[in-house]
Amino acid sequence: METLVNNAVWNLIVCFCLLGTNVIIISGSLQSGKEVDLNANSVNQFNHESSMPRFAEPIPNVTVSIGRDALLACVVDNLRGFKVAWVRVDTQTILSIHHNVITQNPRVTLSYNDHRSWYLHIRDVHEEDRGWYMCQVNTDPMRSRQGYLQVVVPPSIIDKETSTDMVVREASNATLICKAAGYPEPYVMWRREDGEDINYNGDTVNFIDGEVLHITRVSRLHMGAYLCIASNGVPPSISKRVTLKVQFPPMLTISNQLVGGYVGQDIKLECHTEAFPTSINFWTTEKGDMIVSDMTVSGEKYEAISTDNGYNKYMILKIRKLSPQDFGSYKCVAKNSLGETDGFIKLDQIEVPSRSMAITEGPEYDRKDYGVENENNYNEGGSSEIVFNSLPTDNSSLNSHATRSYGFRVDWLIIVSAGWCCVVAMVQSSCR
Ligand SMILES: *[C@@H]1O[C@H](CO)[C@@H](O)[C@H](O)[C@H]1NC(C)=O
Ligand SMILES: *[C@@H]1O[C@H](CO)[C@@H](O)[C@H](O)[C@H]1NC(C)=O
Ligand SMILES: *[C@@H]1O[C@H](CO)[C@@H](O)[C@H](O)[C@H]1NC(C)=O
Repeated sequence: METLVNNAVWNLIVCFCLLGTNVIIISGSLQSGKEVDLNANSVNQFNHESSMPRFAEPIPNVTVSIGRDALLACVVDNLRGFKVAWVRVDTQTILSIHHNVITQNPRVTLSYNDHRSWYLHIRDVHEEDRGWYMCQVNTDPMRSRQGYLQVVVPPSIIDKETSTDMVVREASNATLICKAAGYPEPYVMWRREDGEDINYNGDTVNFIDGEVLHITRVSRLHMGAYLCIASNGVPPSISKRVTLKVQFPPMLTISNQLVGGYVGQDIKLECHTEAFPTSINFWTTEKGDMIVSDMTVSGEKYEAISTDNGYNKYMILKIRKLSPQDFGSYKCVAKNSLGETDGFIKLDQIEVPSRSMAITEGPEYDRKDYGVENENNYNEGGSSEIVFNSLPTDNSSLNSHATRSYGFRVDWLIIVSAGWCCVVAMVQSSCR
């Protein structure tokens, strides 16, 4: 082991101490280790190992969080007249000798008891205090032990190198970066705040390791709040919230493009849109006259209801007590800064249903049989779907409510039923 404090240095330092401290206490230390031995009257010309100072235990490594206090302990048996010094190894600084603190660092203090345990206290630990500390005894040759002071630092996010809230166009790339500091070096990951999986460049993942979240071809499904989480085993872990907003022009879906109603009936037209930034949505008549604005308005004739869910908007137009001039086309329109789209719903007049029109029997209804699927393809971006409610096929006694709901299809059913009758009639006549 390298001798950092040889006897000459010892004497020098002790001389220095002598000037400022009690002459009687220090007087003995002017001698070299061997002479101290003799002075202490534990006469042993051969310095039997058993009579020499020895370390009772290794100096334990100490781990402290920055800002806390550290305590390094050195326990020496058989010290007799020898002296214990604490030395900072990396800087070769003497911190204390015997009962005296040498260093100028006001955060360092010393305590001892029984001339056996020697404690070095470091208050409010800084990162630069991290390193090896040596406990020396001024025997010849010098004896020493070392202990490591680990100073750990909880993670922190380096704000100026970390992404802030971001707005990108759909189908472009987005890169979120998170930089963290701490000791040991923190582990950094990204995940969605809501805990949902992320479609990450083809893979479905719950979190992404590392500082960089690079999404190629961002979709609207990537919109949301993300958390960058940094941890290094030193509590507390830390996170930063970054929102990703994805802009795209409005897209519109109409599930029922053909609605039947009869005079006097109340009906509902429905339209679903997606857009970010949030679109302005409204309904117009066939001629393009705006019916009601986007907000919920209760009126005599019309009621427009719009429900938002993220970038989705569900629009409903209620028309009360249909009159003959209400039949025709209605348009729902969605506009935002990136574009505009619209779609038509045709409101057709049907006969007022009566109980005599009860449906008796019918074949399996396939929506394709209606021949209207995808008749109108309003916008290239969205799938234009037409969904008809399935007809009850096993209930021969449709009540008036059911008949009204399916009013539009009653006409059709009559045609089909008539067709069946004709076929049956033809088969019967040909058999004769
Ligand atoms: C102290 O830590 C060092 C490495 O940092 C290691 O080599 C040594 O064995 C440790 N000593 C004790 C007593 O744990
Ligand atoms: C998006 O990222 C991919 C893969 O990293 C790259 O090939 C492409 O050029 C990027 N596109 C743009 C617009 O930066
Ligand atoms: C037929 O419709 C009536 C009235 O809606 C209902 O009470 C009844 O349970 C239905 N019968 C069958 C077989 O579905």
